[in-house]
Amino acid sequence: QIKAFLFDLDGVIVDTAIYHYQAWKRLATELGFDISEEFNEGLKGVSRMDSLDLILAHGGLTLPDEEKAKLADQKNEWYLELVSRMTPEAILPGVAMFFSQVRQAGLKTALGSVSKNAPLILERIGMTDAFDTIIDGTKISKGKPDPEVFTKGADELGVRPDECVVFEDAVAGVEAGKRGGMFVVGLGSPDVLRQADLVAPSLAELTVDEVLSKSK
Ligand code: BG6
Ligand code: MG
Repeated sequence: QIKAFLFDLDGVIVDTAIYHYQAWKRLATELGFDISEEFNEGLKGVSRMDSLDLILAHGGLTLPDEEKAKLADQKNEWYLELVSRMTPEAILPGVAMFFSQVRQAGLKTALGSVSKNAPLILERIGMTDAFDTIIDGTKISKGKPDPEVFTKGADELGVRPDECVVFEDAVAGVEAGKRGGMFVVGLGSPDVLRQADLVAPSLAELTVDEVLSKSK
């Protein structure tokens, strides 16, 4: 029986995936190359440093650690500039309705994001209290596709993996949920999120009852 829903943040609850992409694209441009939207799919859900490593490899660059730390800081500065203008309007369509159904169904909720900025983002959109527990990038040692961020959330909620449904927009996040032994709802395109157990364009096209009946 499903007892908890675990949500990714960027691209599931809030429209920040686009800001991560814009900030990385700006960095790549400064380094003399470009990153496509298709390449960006592989960055979604991936930690800051792992993303930078993928980008540098894509541009054929090898840099010392101090230089990489500076670039990661620069990207985060640009990202924070973009999100500082964000308001509750950035909450994705369907989220509010879905969360009221989640509460009504008596399900527990966790945030499972590898972003170190997750608490700040939740604050900005007024959703900190929507979660029973928050696992963010500062609480884990391995990023997605490792399942740690979700298994930790389940542990904190006191539920087993097979009692959890994960909501993810990223290939790496879907893999993390599956590796954690959970039912995974992919939000996006079925062509991209192939490992997901169920795919919908966004939470706006789903109801809690539908998810519960399909994850049985
Ligand atoms: C994930 C995003 O939620 O967080 C990634 O999907 C991002 O794009 C990662 O790289 C780390 O975020 P941050 O805020 O710690 O740089
Ligand atoms: Mg995401």
